Amino acid sequence: MSSDPHAKPQTAIFSKGYDPRRSEGAAIPPVFRTSTFLFKDAEEGKRAFEIAYGKSPAKAGESPALIYSRVNNPNIEILEEKCAAWDGADEAALCASGMGAISCTCLTFLKPGDTLIFSDPVYGGTEHFFRAMLPEFNIKTRTFPADASLDVIEDLVKNDPAIKVIYLESPANPTMVVCDVPGVVAVAKKYSTNDRRILVMVDNTFMGPIFSSPLKMGADIVLYSATKFFGGHSDLVAGISMGRRELMAQVKGYRTILGATSDPDTAWLIHRSLGTLQLRMENQQKSALKIVELLLKHPSVERVAYPGLDCMGPRQIELCKQQFTGTGSLIGFTVKGGEAEAFRVLNSTVHIKLAVSLGGIESLIQHPSTMTHSDMSAEAKIKSGITENLIRLSVGLEDVDDLLADLKQALDRCVTT
Ligand SMILES: Cc1ncc(COP(=O)(O)O)c(C=O)c1O
Repeated sequence: MSSDPHAKPQTAIFSKGYDPRRSEGAAIPPVFRTSTFLFKDAEEGKRAFEIAYGKSPAKAGESPALIYSRVNNPNIEILEEKCAAWDGADEAALCASGMGAISCTCLTFLKPGDTLIFSDPVYGGTEHFFRAMLPEFNIKTRTFPADASLDVIEDLVKNDPAIKVIYLESPANPTMVVCDVPGVVAVAKKYSTNDRRILVMVDNTFMGPIFSSPLKMGADIVLYSATKFFGGHSDLVAGISMGRRELMAQVKGYRTILGATSDPDTAWLIHRSLGTLQLRMENQQKSALKIVELLLKHPSVERVAYPGLDCMGPRQIELCKQQFTGTGSLIGFTVKGGEAEAFRVLNSTVHIKLAVSLGGIESLIQHPSTMTHSDMSAEAKIKSGITENLIRLSVGLEDVDDLLADLKQALDRCVTT
């Protein structure tokens, strides 16, 4: 186990959370592919349930017995400790998918009569959950533009005492607009009282954990689709919720009963991906920067959306400088024309694959308006900037010269003069 509390995450993850002596000295954790765990005696089982069900907290140094893999499993716990190290969280909760983490976390903290406000746009599945599902539980939801000024957000919070969660996705999928996380945290703190706790949750899938740490900016909970950069190889689906111990204990309680827990094989695969997470994200970013240069110059391209670019405007540039240590590998761009021209590009790339998802080792390209965000109304899409000519590109680890040539030949096909 790591004994250096000052080790950087890239070092800490190699030892944190795993004691080889408990697994026959295995250098890497074995897969604990079991649904249930044997208790030494009935007393041990009783105590494990008391702790797991929150009836009595674990004492310092107490190591409760494992119960059942929907409740806890060594691979999941080992991974959670390592992931928490990246984000500076007390604790992490691994879930069956990003949507599992988002829905489980929101249902943990929202009750009938409460309101959640969220930055617009967000990932299509999240948008559907907020717009169509939470209201069925008598939880109201409202949006504000991702780049809304703090005055707008403060007005909402001041005038609606039912608001209990401010949910941000930053940068927004797929417009790449960045939210003012520290500013929103300050608003939430200002209006939080003993009777009204306003939690700030941030979906950090696009930039985290390498280029952005919302918990260090004061956010209460950070959420991930671990299907993306954490997994990184497009071979698994998972999600993570992270934050203070007290909050995560509640999320884990809901996760157990809603059955949103991940499984040992998935946890093991993400564990295997962790060592190269930083390497992958940094290299993907290097290629993305070169691709952005090509897009900015190509005559078929109307606009490029990427953190920190001049065309995003001075406030966006300032927010990026303040919050991010990098620019990431997700790019939005619009082509001159509409859906037909966008489809021509999507149908022409060879190395860049046409598929949803992002953050994997292979480059993926997709059309948000008819794919990831197709469930939104036409009016909502226009309001959010999800136009018919918008394309989202996730840059992978192929040779960058091949990617540049591939994108150029695809864009050349829709030059309009
Ligand atoms: C920003 C963001 N959050 C959450 C999700 C949902 O994650 P999952 O597909 O793992 O459920 C996605 C999926 O694309 C996403 O892009």
